[in-house]
Amino acid sequence: MFRIPIMPNFRRLLVVATAVLASASCAADTTITPDIEHGKATFNTMCGVCHSVQKTGGPVEGPNLLGLVGREAASQADFAKYSPALKTSNLTWSEETLDRFLVNPMAMVPGTLMPMLIRDDKTRADVIAYLATLKQ
Ligand code: HEC
Repeated sequence: MFRIPIMPNFRRLLVVATAVLASASCAADTTITPDIEHGKATFNTMCGVCHSVQKTGGPVEGPNLLGLVGREAASQADFAKYSPALKTSNLTWSEETLDRFLVNPMAMVPGTLMPMLIRDDKTRADVIAYLATLKQ
């Protein structure tokens, strides 16, 4: 008589592998495909009143956001009104940090002067995708 002690473990592994695959395909289903044009339109209505995205000119209430993705927070040299909170935040703007910031700036950087938040996940992803297209 012989036993195959490996068998139960193998079955457990299969269960785990199936669960991992299932959750991976679920995650893919909920992935947001950003709409850059909608992001641009939203930006123009919600953000453009304070932030310029042109090389020169435009509003100066907030810092220029051209080339934002990849840049350190509070590092736009022409903007002199950054809050101490943002200056000491040690953040670098990526799609991930922008996502956490824009959903509620005051929660992520208490004391920031950035007043606008984008609660809707899809709209926020659209705006971030638009911002990521703005290279200096
Ligand atoms: C009423 C003016 C105003 C509006 C509207 C506004 N912002 Fe701001 N924003 C600011 C100010 C002022 C700061 C500087 C904040 C600080 O120093 O704490 C800022 C900072 C930022 C920063 C950090 C920039 C850097 O150089 O580190 C980002 C990113 C940003 N805003 C994105 C947005 C987006 C996206 C919108 C639209 C959803 C928006 N802002 C709407 C005034 C505004």
